[in-house]
Amino acid sequence: MILLDGKKTSNDIKQEIAEKVAELKKHGKKTPHLAAVIVGSNGASVTYVNAKVKACEKVGFDSTLIQLPADVSEVELLKKIDALNNDDNIDGFIVQLPLPKHINEHKITLAINPAKDVDGFHPENLGRMVLDLPGFLPATPYGIVQLLDRYEIETSGKNCVVIGRSHIVGSPMSILMARNTKVGNCTVTLTHSRTKNLEEITRKADIIIVALGKTEFLTGDMVKEGVVVVDVGITRVEDASKKSGFRLLGDVNFEEVSKKASHITPVPGGVGPMTIASLLMNTLQAVDLK
Ligand code: GUN
Repeated sequence: MILLDGKKTSNDIKQEIAEKVAELKKHGKKTPHLAAVIVGSNGASVTYVNAKVKACEKVGFDSTLIQLPADVSEVELLKKIDALNNDDNIDGFIVQLPLPKHINEHKITLAINPAKDVDGFHPENLGRMVLDLPGFLPATPYGIVQLLDRYEIETSGKNCVVIGRSHIVGSPMSILMARNTKVGNCTVTLTHSRTKNLEEITRKADIIIVALGKTEFLTGDMVKEGVVVVDVGITRVEDASKKSGFRLLGDVNFEEVSKKASHITPVPGGVGPMTIASLLMNTLQAVDLK
């Protein structure tokens, strides 16, 4: 079994980006600048956003963290987005999800200038992805593609099963794996909560990407020998023995599935760091769009 090491791969990508940034600076070009907006103080979201800002520092980007209170109005948030859209110093920005219930996420996503939408969530970027046009790919699916690419996983003609149809992971992932690209050309099955006989489908899969947010959902009896497994889940579960008071669990029962898999991502240290690497790649690309 080979571990798909997202931490190492993301560090390799960061190193490559850092070299490109140094080159930009040497030639007197603008330093890429990413802004991240966070609303409220959800523990996991704060951790993710801080990790994104730290990654910017590591590669030599400028970064701006904008923290808004949980009760900020939708209008105020839209005003902030408008300011970021019109700030020439900001190359790309993200609004960390989920947002509080009183704010309409779709409205927020639509308000982001697609040329600065480095999370790749805007309908224009999702449409570009479907049409094979240049644009920003959604950060987590893009990170998974990079990981499969760097480990030289053969995908062409394989059966790929995606579990979960979220707008930010499952749905775009299913589209990317079916595209006529190096990582792609799979026969994709997108499964979800209404899927019948899921185990029959997963047992035929060569590649399984699990993104439904249910801890240890994919078990050993659901997969065949030699399967490639990518675990997008990252749920905090209480654990008094940990200093933080919690540990992180994925959507895959790692103990069982790793015994049968040819390749598998760990949690943590798998997909999470790759999402950040993609965000940095997208931000570098955003500089050229301006
Ligand atoms: N919430 C969970 N994943 C993501 C992500 O990739 N980007 C943003 N903005 N919010 C998220």
